[in-house]
Formats: sequence, structure tokens, C-alpha cells
Amino acid sequence: MTEIESRSHSRNGAGTAALIAAAGHGERFGAGLPKQYRRLGGVPILTRSIRAFLGSPEIDRVLVAIHPDHRALYDEAVAGLELPEPALGGATRQESVRRGLESLAADPPRHVVIHDAARPLVGARTIARTLAALADSAGAVAATPATDTLKRVAGGRIVETVPRGAVWHAQTPQAFRFSEILAAHREATDIALTDDASVAERAGLRVAAVESDAGNVKITTESDLELAERSLPRQVRVGSGFDVHRFATVGDRVMLCGLAIPHDRGLAGHSDADVALHAVVDAMLGAVAAGDIGTFFPPDDQAWAGADSALFVRRACDVVAAAGGRLSHVDLTIICEEPRIAPCRDAMRTNLAALLDLPMSAVSVKATTTEGLGFAGRGEGIAAQATATVETAA
Ligand code: CTP
Ligand code: MG
Repeated sequence: MTEIESRSHSRNGAGTAALIAAAGHGERFGAGLPKQYRRLGGVPILTRSIRAFLGSPEIDRVLVAIHPDHRALYDEAVAGLELPEPALGGATRQESVRRGLESLAADPPRHVVIHDAARPLVGARTIARTLAALADSAGAVAATPATDTLKRVAGGRIVETVPRGAVWHAQTPQAFRFSEILAAHREATDIALTDDASVAERAGLRVAAVESDAGNVKITTESDLELAERSLPRQVRVGSGFDVHRFATVGDRVMLCGLAIPHDRGLAGHSDADVALHAVVDAMLGAVAAGDIGTFFPPDDQAWAGADSALFVRRACDVVAAAGGRLSHVDLTIICEEPRIAPCRDAMRTNLAALLDLPMSAVSVKATTTEGLGFAGRGEGIAAQATATVETAA
């Protein structure tokens, strides 16, 4: 198809496409993984941006413009999502968008909504509002009215106070009639512009500003990502754990919370029989619905014979983190007549806090006897029960 044919074809497009610009290097964010592939609430930023559009009823298809070097990261970020082959971006955002639009031109939509991958928290209402404005505008930009007083500054000195009433901050999404924005981008290759509204304005198109919902932040630096992380709605989950180990006939100590406590018998068990840590591990795994200690450390596996139970705790920490969770509190109750727990309680809390990377104020260790009743009361073994509170991003 020649360019002329492609242009005339594009005038008759149908449906609405979303084009997500994700081909940047994120230089202001810093070295390492490009920012659009960093995780926010356990999910890559790009994946969140894509999902926002896939979940919008107005959108028929989503195309992403990526950097060719990021192909493997992209494939991982979109695993399980049905997306067309990505477009390859260019050296600037403007070029990446133009290339994306050219890809869409093969089967042109009527409308296109262009979005920066770096705004993963865009809401469905903001997307809908920009698209609705196309009924009487060639383009529409999600934006927020300026709230700070604005100064024009030169050489560190205020030159002028700019009336705030007419100033808005332009964000993405930015929606356009497809054929018009494609033509405008083709005409703008000789000038550097930072958003698509500028490209449209230069072509003389009427572009509306529509108010975007709060929270549509752009991730530019590490601190933007931290702020975004804190702004995510959280789910609080509490897991419970319970374990019992019987006393052996031999030994001179029991292990509780990684502490060797002198006693006239040890606890029987495949590992170091640290019944307290085992209850904590099960509570943590329960909070993220990841099975129990036996799932990860089968008791018939010789590898764990005599194992330090701190190993199990560290693995549970990894499992919680992989599920996007953050452990915020642990409460443990040790149930036995002997040995006496009170004198060791703070040393146990210190050990647990270090193992779990929690402050002492978030680690509780309690103990009780059973008034001589049951197996614990008869001194046949020790039981422990625990709860673990984990916050996960919704
Ligand atoms: N972008 C792009 N192609 C480029 C440059 C940027 O598709 N050549 C995309 C980015 O991936 C981002 C969006 O445009 O989603 C907005 O750009 P920005 O926030 O500036 O991201 P980067 O250019 O990656 O960051 P920096 O400017 O700090 O390098
Ligand atoms: Mg940039």
C-alpha cells in the first residue's frame, strides 16, 4: 500500500485503539531496569498501563511501542494478555508515537488514545472522558488545573506572576481522530514536541482539555515510584499458623525462635524442631495462600534433616515478597509448662525481628501454660500458634 492509499484508507477507520508509548530508557529514573518495567504493587508499570486500557469498554485494541532492546522484558510484562505484535519506537517519544500510529494505519481505527506507559494509575473515567470529548473536538487531553501560584523565573529571579486561572498541566491519555493525528505527526517530523496535543495544535486542530482524576501521576524518578506505591489501595490479610513438637527422651536444650534454651530434654523433629518458627512460617504462608511449611520443605526430604529453621523463615519472606506482600506484624504464642518463656521473651523478639526485617514493635511473643491440662500440660511437647499480618497491593 502506498502512503497516499494508506492515508485515504485511514479516513474510513473504525473503532478505538489505544497506543501506549513505552520505548524510553527512563534516564531520569536511573540505571538498571527501565522504569516502565519496574514493579508497582508487584506488577510491572507497563502491565498496569496496558490493563487500564484493556479494561476500558471504549477500547477495541491496544498497541504498545517498545524499544527493541526491551523485547524480553516486554514479553514477560504482557504474558497472558492478548496483544498484537508491538511497534518499535524511536529515539524520542514523538518518534515512538509516530511509528506506533504508522503501525495502526495498516488497519486504521477511527479514534486513537495515546498514553505514556509511565502513567500506570490512569483511571477508566479519565480514559472515557478524553474519548467522549472527541464528539466535538479533534483532540482531547487529560489535564489538571494548576493549583500553585505560577511565576516566570529568569536567572533565579521572578520576572512575572502568571495568572493561574488559564493554566493546566497536560498529562496523558490524549485522544484524537486517528487520521488527523497521524497526518499531524507526519507533518511535525522537523520539530521536537513533547506531547501529541502540541503536534495537533501545530496542525491547527482544536484540542479540548478535560479534567483527569487525581492520582494519574507520571513515574519519572525513584521517589515518584515510592509515592505511587504508598498511594495504592491495600488489602490486609492475616494468616494463622499452628505447630506441635513432642519432647524427645534425650537432649539438653530446645530451640525456640532461633534461641537455644537449656532444658532437660530436646524437642523431636526432622529439622531443629523450632516449633515457634514453624508456626510463624505457616502464618506467613497462610497470609498469601501459598500452602504450608510441608509444601516447601517436605519432612521426608533428607535435605532438611537438622536444618536451622531460620532457613524456612527466610524462604517464607521470599514467598510473601513474590506475592507482592509486605509483612507488617507477627504475633506468636508458645504453649508449654516448661521451659519458662518469660525470661527469654525479649531475646526471642530480637531474633524474630531480625529474621523478619520488622521493628521490635511489630513482633509479639507470648506464652501460656494449659494449667496442667492436655499434652502440653503433661509436659509431652510444646505447641505454638502465630498470626502474620501481610499487606498486599489491591
Ligand atoms: N517514550 C517512548 N520513546 C522514547 C522516549 C520515551 O516511547 N524514545 C515513552 C516512555 O517510555 C514513557 C513516555 O514516553 O512511557 C513518557 O516519557 P518519559 O516519562 O520522559 O520517559 P523516558 O523518556 O523513558 O524517561 P527519561 O526522559 O527520564 O529518559
Ligand atoms: Mg523522556
